[in-house]
Amino acid sequence: PRPGLVIAVDGPAAAGKGTLARRLAAELGLAYLDTGLLYRATGRRVLDAAADPRDAAAAEAAARSLTPADLARGDLRGPEADRAASAVAAIPAVRAALLDWQRDYGRLHGAVLDGRDIGTVVFPDAPVKLYVTASDEERARRRHLELTGRGVEADLTVVLEELRARDAQDASRAVAPLKPAEDAVQLDTTTLDAEAAYAAALAVVRGKLPA
Ligand code: CDP
Ligand code: CDP
Repeated sequence: PRPGLVIAVDGPAAAGKGTLARRLAAELGLAYLDTGLLYRATGRRVLDAAADPRDAAAAEAAARSLTPADLARGDLRGPEADRAASAVAAIPAVRAALLDWQRDYGRLHGAVLDGRDIGTVVFPDAPVKLYVTASDEERARRRHLELTGRGVEADLTVVLEELRARDAQDASRAVAPLKPAEDAVQLDTTTLDAEAAYAAALAVVRGKLPA
């Protein structure tokens, strides 16, 4: 594909964005960026500093000083990291601090980026935008399976509640809320496995890009 090509993959928690975006990137020879990691790592640094993830000054300082090593930490998943990520992600100064970095990354390499605001804010001109969804129950089931697969004890009902709370927070914030871009193609994967979701997404991409 064209150098600098950007594909946006957005949607709520555990919809299968990362799985899909990573595979599309490999297929198309593009880089892949999990933008959620930026917010997760920022939240983790604020927790390290014993500050409140809603503290705008602490969170902005953390976002501005992120290093590649922060993104490779092993403690960026799980309920505490989820909550801290969503809290720092609601702070405008944090989003501003991470914006140019995401744009430079996408333009430089050509990339598939997954997150919440890639198609609406980070790359509003992306030629391909996917908005991946699935029912709350199915997404909770997937996240629960991931947690238990990693040996983490988790209650499905609690996972569902926390996922709904985080989606609500992400969708209701004033800056860059979770919502589909007007020109995004919506892909409901409730009844699709990862393979079928990938096939559907690839068909969308091929339809949007000149051969
Ligand atoms: O994997 P999952 O969908 O559960 O979460 P994630 O993509 O790693 O994102 C973690 C949190 O970061 C989300 O709940 C959002 O609050 C925030 N985020 C965001 O605001 N904008 C993005 N582009 C990506 C993530
Ligand atoms: O990035 P996001 O949080 O949206 O989801 P993910 O981490 O890519 O995927 C969550 C889990 O759902 C993974 O274990 C996938 O194998 C599984 N899954 C999927 O990605 N797509 C489907 N259509 C069905 C299941």
